[in-house]
Amino acid sequence: MQILMIGDVIGKVGRAVVARVLPTLKQEREIDFVIANAENAAGGFGLTHKVAEDLFSSGIDALTGGNHSWNKKEIYELLEKEKRVLRPLNYPSGVPGEGFTILRQKTKTLGVINLCGRIYLDPIDCPFKSIEERLDKIREEVPNILVDMHAEATSEKVAMGYFLDGKVSAVIGTHTHVQTADEKILPGGTAYLTDVGMTGPVDSVIGMKKDVALKRFLARLPFRLDAAKGKGQFCAVLIQIDPESGRANRIERIQMEVETDDSDS
Ligand SMILES: [Fe+2]
Ligand SMILES: [Fe+2]
Repeated sequence: MQILMIGDVIGKVGRAVVARVLPTLKQEREIDFVIANAENAAGGFGLTHKVAEDLFSSGIDALTGGNHSWNKKEIYELLEKEKRVLRPLNYPSGVPGEGFTILRQKTKTLGVINLCGRIYLDPIDCPFKSIEERLDKIREEVPNILVDMHAEATSEKVAMGYFLDGKVSAVIGTHTHVQTADEKILPGGTAYLTDVGMTGPVDSVIGMKKDVALKRFLARLPFRLDAAKGKGQFCAVLIQIDPESGRANRIERIQMEVETDDSDS
């Protein structure tokens, strides 16, 4: 079973890159399920109904979130209505939406879990305890599981990889927007990568217009950030899972530059 996880899709450029790359890649690599982190997909901050529909029509099966999930008001309604859109599992109880879903494709099934770290991010519930409480029951429902560990600190992501090794098929990091080169299969058979990187504008400060980002660093004032334009990049990771055992047997990083219609604007 082949699973593709796409890193944080940033604004219009990111969506255009997905639309351009994904249909062919899916066919060429015989991909069964595609998951993308979409916390920055609407103008760089949050997710809307329309943007979610755009991404689904490009071939994505489920959208995960993170600390920016809440930036657009309509996410509350979207999370209630659309089971293919997740927010991190470890938000306090009562928060709208789910952090877990099951995708089905003919005879194949895949569980997707979204977690968020707490180091340099909001002090939400402990991601380790939250997944520990739910995982046995989830594993009874679905043996093959991908976890999007959305976190800032490398150590927290690596620790989650080892915490879940042998219990899920893959632990893949998102949020820092720069792809790391540490893909591996952990000893228990879990595919691991600290960060997938972003799918968005190349010439930017992690997806945002660089002049504004620089002004913020230089003046220490909260100038409004905006998603950058120009040439795009596609960052993803392809994981091959043995559906019988749930173990990963291959992990491959993908990073490529992509021209889009938005490249010159
Ligand atoms: Fe992000
Ligand atoms: Fe994030």
